[in-house]
Amino acid sequence: MAEPSEIAVDDGLPCAEVGAWAELKYRLFVLYASLFSKGMKYKWDERVYIDLYAGAGFSRVRGTTKIIAGSPILALTVDDPFDKYIFCEQDPQLLSALRERTARIAPASNVAYIPGDCNSRIDDILAQIPPASREHTVLGLCFVDPFGIGIKFDTLRRLSTRYLDFLCLLAVYMDANRNYARYLSEDSRKVDEFLGSADWRQKWTSVQAQGAYFPKFLAEEFAASMKSLEYIPPPLYTMKEVRSDEKNLRLYYLALFSRDERAYEFWTQVLKYGTDQRSLEF
Ligand SMILES: C[S@@+](CC[C@H](N)C(=O)[O-])C[C@H]1O[C@@H](n2cnc3c(N)ncnc32)[C@H](O)[C@@H]1O
Repeated sequence: MAEPSEIAVDDGLPCAEVGAWAELKYRLFVLYASLFSKGMKYKWDERVYIDLYAGAGFSRVRGTTKIIAGSPILALTVDDPFDKYIFCEQDPQLLSALRERTARIAPASNVAYIPGDCNSRIDDILAQIPPASREHTVLGLCFVDPFGIGIKFDTLRRLSTRYLDFLCLLAVYMDANRNYARYLSEDSRKVDEFLGSADWRQKWTSVQAQGAYFPKFLAEEFAASMKSLEYIPPPLYTMKEVRSDEKNLRLYYLALFSRDERAYEFWTQVLKYGTDQRSLEF
């Protein structure tokens, strides 16, 4: 299969705009997806890739004519493709563009498309994950790539009933910190839904007095929520902080959640090779 950089061309279909920093996100994402799909190929009978916020498949880098492949296309074109793909996208035009691109680029792939809000379509997403048994093992990688902190923890809790690793973009700077006053107001349920509990308010009141910083607090609380689902909570320093190119503003963390230590070994390699541009030999 051709490289994603050769595949991503202006094909006239809808294409969202992204900041140049998205290229770092995609570099880390594709390294992890490649290591995961290759490393798990002979250990599990079926490997499933789930993209809860799939997008259109291609994006244009803001202020340029450069087209780059997004997470679904990158996942479809890894060297050892997944056995099944599940793509959820709220915007019907973007989902339709993704369907066309997938049909052109990876026509033989087994893909289920779920239109709508991933939080409310969770039953349909779960229904698309092949049933697992002792005789037929199934492992999934779920990419959670929202614009803000709109992912509901309950959605991840439902998915965690299956064998899944999560790679999550935690928009704790570009959303939570910017909307701090709004999310802190007593009638906002946004952070409760993101963390799956309302306990954070009391904790925040106490750690804030000791000088804690809200985005870091949220990322750590999110890891603690994942721990309640038996995921090994990653320390903050293993969450990759991504900044904007123009003003060097902190935007989000890219964080891995797994129940298996080996997944964190892959992630360590990804952080080592993905951020200094050296190539990783698979
Ligand atoms: C940051 S983009 C992700 C793009 C994609 N992962 C990629 O790498 O190109 C977020 C996407 O999620 C979609 N979206 C927003 N809210 C959603 C929701 N609740 N459920 C599913 N998709 C949603 C948006 O339309 C947008 O295409």
